[in-house]
This record gives sequence, structure tokens and C-alpha cells, in this order.
Amino acid sequence: MRILIKYITKINYFAEIFFAMIITESRAWLTSRVNELKESDKKIGFAPTMGALHKGHISLIKKAVKENDICIVSIFINPKQFSNSKDLEKYPKTIKEDLSLLNMCLSVNDIVFIPSFDEIYNKHKNTIYDLGRLENIMEGKFREGHFQGVATVVNIFFDIIKPSRAYFGLKDYQQYLIIKRLVEITGLQIEIVPCKIIRENNGLAMSSRNKRLNKEQKQYSGNIFKALEMAKSLLKSADFSEIKNEVEKIIQSTPGYNLEYFEIVDSETLTKISDINSSSDLIACIAVYAGDIRLIDNIILK
Ligand code: PAJ
Repeated sequence: MRILIKYITKINYFAEIFFAMIITESRAWLTSRVNELKESDKKIGFAPTMGALHKGHISLIKKAVKENDICIVSIFINPKQFSNSKDLEKYPKTIKEDLSLLNMCLSVNDIVFIPSFDEIYNKHKNTIYDLGRLENIMEGKFREGHFQGVATVVNIFFDIIKPSRAYFGLKDYQQYLIIKRLVEITGLQIEIVPCKIIRENNGLAMSSRNKRLNKEQKQYSGNIFKALEMAKSLLKSADFSEIKNEVEKIIQSTPGYNLEYFEIVDSETLTKISDINSSSDLIACIAVYAGDIRLIDNIILK
């Protein structure tokens, strides 16, 4: 794999581990490499990440490697999608471990793009995307400006990388729908490939933020998925408010955990459903706090 990274000071640090890298002007180099690949009709698969990689990320990357001629992985903690500055500050950074993991699943022609803030945003003109009502519900309601930030950075990456396919995890289900909307409104010819949720043995959806959980929080973390499974099992016998009560009970009785929201929604529009016997495909989405660590998860109900 080739590592595109802007900071010269990191040369010695990485040179010990990886043989191929381009250090300066990484965006310019990438742009010309992408043009070459496009001219020779190669399919580019793109997996955007914010690093602190785990098996969830790796599953996207392996799929991108398998289904395309070249895989490009980005690692960029995008400040514009954080509404909470503490969350941004505390976001885990494990670049050395990330590169070791990537080294195991990428080959020499694949690319890891680790741009600086300036490389992404220097010449960028602010755009507001019409993301429709998806923008302001659930995650959008609790994280103001989050999805504009996600759409902005992903669109910049799409512009640089020009992928044929881009890979997104269903753990961030609303984000996946937002990206499909982005592609629709920009008219980009990119296939958005959904990837299933990868979980720990106790059911906890893998997440970079899990690295911040303490021993006790980890011990009880399986309760989030337990609550979702309980919701699914009650679907035939209970109404929405009964299901919501049960979910609340499980989370509120979990030491150190607090429920932010639990919703049962139409899986295409994310419209709230009050009649769970409706014919739409349904998904249950949840956001909880373990201390100050915010975790989200979901389960397809039908
Ligand atoms: P990040 O949280 O690093 O996630 C990168 C990708 O990995 C996302 O598509 C996410 O849904 C997927 N992912 C994370 N955990 C997963 C799991 N347990 N199973 C399956 N997929 C999982 O999402 C972002 O970064 C950012 O918003 C980004 C799209 C990179 C834009 O900045």
C-alpha cells in the first residue's frame, strides 16, 4: 500500500514499518494518480474512515478490495461533523495501529490517504446540501450540523477520489441514507455499498469510541444490543409504547448508561412509526451515553 500523508516529521516513524510512501503534496499526487486510473478504466473502491480502525472498518475495506481494481482508504478526523468539541478532542487516534491493520489487508497498489485539514478545506467553498428531513431527525436532532459536516467532507473526498463504489457501514444507518441522498442530489455516478454491522461477542456494535469505555462500561455494553433484540422479539405482541418502555427499562437499569433516544422508524424515510403493524420495512435505532461516551446502534425489525 502507499501511504499519502502530509507531515514530513512523520517520515522516520513510518519508514520503519512500511516501504512505500509519498510524503508531501498528497492531495496533488492522489489527483494525478486517480486520473491515470480513470484513463485506464480501473474501478476505484473507496472506504472513508476517521481512523482508530477496528474489524467494522476492516470489513468495509476488505469488501472494497475484493470488488474493485484499487482500494483507497482515507483517515481523516473531520472537525466539521463534531458538534461537541470535547468529543472531537477525545476522539481516539491510533495511526500506527491503523497502518499495521491496513498493511494486512491492502496491497502495493492500494492507497491510504491521510490528509491534513488544509489539504481538505483550504480551497473549499462552503456549500449547504439539501439533505431533506433526514438531516434534522434522530442523529441530526441531537448533533446539530453533523450531517452537513459529513456530506461536506464526503463530497470533497468523492471529488478527489472519483470512486466507482464507496463503502459505508449500516451501524451509522442514517449516515448511509444521507450519503445516498448526497449522491442523488449531486448526480454523481457512485454506487453506495451498504456493509453489515460487525459486533463484539457480547453484541456491542464495534466503534472507535468503544476504545474509551472503562472496565465497568465495557462489562455492561452488551445491554444495548440486548435491548434492540428485545424490541425485535416484542414486535408481534406489544405496541410501540410498550416496546419503548422495555428498552428504556433495560438501558436505565444498566449502571452508568443513559438513553438518549430510541425510535422505531420506516427504514427508507426514517419517519416515526406509531403503528408497528404497518406494512413498511422497519428499523429500530438507539443512541445511549455510557458516561460521556455516545454510542449508537440499530436493528432491522422487518
Ligand atoms: P467512522 O466512524 O470512522 O466510520 C467509517 C465507516 O465505518 C462508516 O461507514 C461506518 O458506518 C463504518 N463502521 C463503523 N463501525 C462499524 C461496524 N461496527 N460495523 C460496520 N461498519 C462500521 O463514519 C465516519 O467515520 C465518518 O462520518 C466518515 C464517513 C468517515 C466521514 O467523516
